[in-house]
Amino acid sequence: MKAKNTEIDLTDSFELIPVSIHKTAKEGSVEVAKTIASLVREKQKAKQPCVLGLATGSTPKNLYAELVRMHREEKLSFKNVITFNLDEYYPMAPDSLASYHRFMNEQLFNRVDIEPKNIHIPDGTISKDDIKAYCEKYESDVQKAGGVDLQILGIGINGHIGFNEPGSGINSKTRLVALDNSTRIANAYDFPNMSEVPRLALTVGIGAIMKSRKIILMAWGQHKAPVIRKAVEGHSTEQVPASLLQQHDNCLFVLDEQAALELTRFKSPWLTGECEWSSRMIRKAVTTMALNLEKPILMLTDNDYNDHGLSDLLVQFGSAYDINLMVFNGMRNTITGWPGGKPGVEIPGHPERALPEHKRVLIFSPHPDDDIISMGGTFIRLHEQGHDVHVGYQTSGNIAVSDEFVTRFIDFVVGFDEMFGIDKNHATQLMQEARKFLKSKKSSDVDAADIRAIKGLIRRCEAKATCRYVGIKEENIHFMNLPFYETGKIEKAPPGKKDVEITMDIIRKIKPHQIYAAGDLADPHGTHKVCLEIVFEALARLKKEPFMEDCWLWLYRGAWQEFEVYEIEMAVPMSPDQVRQKRNGIFIHQSQKDSVPFQGSDAREFWQRVEERNAGTAELFDKLGLPKYAALEAFARYYY
Ligand code: F6R
Repeated sequence: MKAKNTEIDLTDSFELIPVSIHKTAKEGSVEVAKTIASLVREKQKAKQPCVLGLATGSTPKNLYAELVRMHREEKLSFKNVITFNLDEYYPMAPDSLASYHRFMNEQLFNRVDIEPKNIHIPDGTISKDDIKAYCEKYESDVQKAGGVDLQILGIGINGHIGFNEPGSGINSKTRLVALDNSTRIANAYDFPNMSEVPRLALTVGIGAIMKSRKIILMAWGQHKAPVIRKAVEGHSTEQVPASLLQQHDNCLFVLDEQAALELTRFKSPWLTGECEWSSRMIRKAVTTMALNLEKPILMLTDNDYNDHGLSDLLVQFGSAYDINLMVFNGMRNTITGWPGGKPGVEIPGHPERALPEHKRVLIFSPHPDDDIISMGGTFIRLHEQGHDVHVGYQTSGNIAVSDEFVTRFIDFVVGFDEMFGIDKNHATQLMQEARKFLKSKKSSDVDAADIRAIKGLIRRCEAKATCRYVGIKEENIHFMNLPFYETGKIEKAPPGKKDVEITMDIIRKIKPHQIYAAGDLADPHGTHKVCLEIVFEALARLKKEPFMEDCWLWLYRGAWQEFEVYEIEMAVPMSPDQVRQKRNGIFIHQSQKDSVPFQGSDAREFWQRVEERNAGTAELFDKLGLPKYAALEAFARYYY
């Protein structure tokens, strides 16, 4: 059943579920919060309860924060609200760090005036024998409460809703399920290591979800874009459980622009109607077609353009020959071995200015290894080409050092003191206490401040060693220790004034001609995203200062994702030797080798991911008929 859509005109589109697209996750969340608030108030007026189905995970965090704000500032009361959460890991104690009980209490319930008796979350401590009866009662309690008025959903990258993994039927019941391996990997960042991610979970079934009177599914970020396309434009199939929502008659997907990127209207807008042919859009259309056809750009024919819905381009720009050449030349110009501009030579179409010959460069690195991982080749070139390269390490990165790794260092300090007879000095005492703490640390414990400091120091030393390896001076290394990061947990504090001020100070001090920042929005922990928002805010505030006129911002992508080929505005090539040189620079970060706590969804080590990615970008350029390199580091300019 195709839902009646009030948001957009679906007549000439491919979309089978209404979608509402917002610039940011925050804006989308505010819209959903408003829908919830008006429903709650409407029910209050009618003296009725309002039954909400709620989800956990990273997706609804902004929504809950907005509801809390509305409660505090706009007197939104939750006294008439009854909630039923979708799921909980099994087994799972409610007070565990990763439990959904704890999540809901921290994000919402403890911060609003909901009656505790009105809160329902599947119980991860129920004995296996009682589960069937427990699940039946959970469903009948929903019906007793009047049924769900509004169900909030997130979506897994495999298309799951709740923990209804691929294969779950449209009538599936509330039950105990085995988690898909991809879900366990995706959720691994909530747990110290993979083996601690539960294999089972309790979930409300799709049958019960479909009974909700209204459903809103939210999705943020580019990593969700492929599954959103499948759910919205693909067949309704159990293999993509969210696509079954096509059969609900009051369901809305609320997306940010990143999650909507793969929808045909954005991916290939020329297929869904009118299309604004900017040079970027032309590049996108032509490169997409060339890669699909496995043809170099210069081999595309008029027929290819016609067959791919691009006859419009032929009408506007003449023959395939002319368009091919325009796109090919534009892409060729992005390739440069002179990321700081070629001294004294103004090359037409070159992505950077030739002057000043020796630029001041500031690389912002969210974690202490992103500089070398994401743009190591460019970092080394910039230094070797005589630019004054500074690095601002934005966060301490302490959470990513394992207890085993830090214990090794503690053993060293204690052993050192013993070896040289430095008896029980302050450092030894401190280290012994730290060792004791780590030995008795439970998985629900957050590291003590001393341990965090030692872990941070380990990463600082690694970053310094990498800078020495590249050759930059000690005074060009800046550890910013942004406070938003220092919670000791995966969950970070929201960015604040201090974070922005620290960032503004360093920019003001260096007055850079080039800033490089991680535009890596798919980082599952969100640290890169927050670091970027802080840089944007700092730049917006500094914009009027005269030196800013000469300051260009280049975005790089880290270990998690790459720019689409048409988005790349500067591509810095690497020879096989330079690839090895970069790899050795990454290896200096020993605390990040082999296995890292809270690693996220990719089991490969960072150097492997980035090497494959840089080689992949080079391969794409090769396929398009551009010069062939061993690897390419890609950048996009951001106009702030
Ligand atoms: C959580 C839930 C899951 C998540 C999904 C997305 O209650 O039911 O379906 O919504 O796994 O998780 P995030 O939001 O962390 O990407």
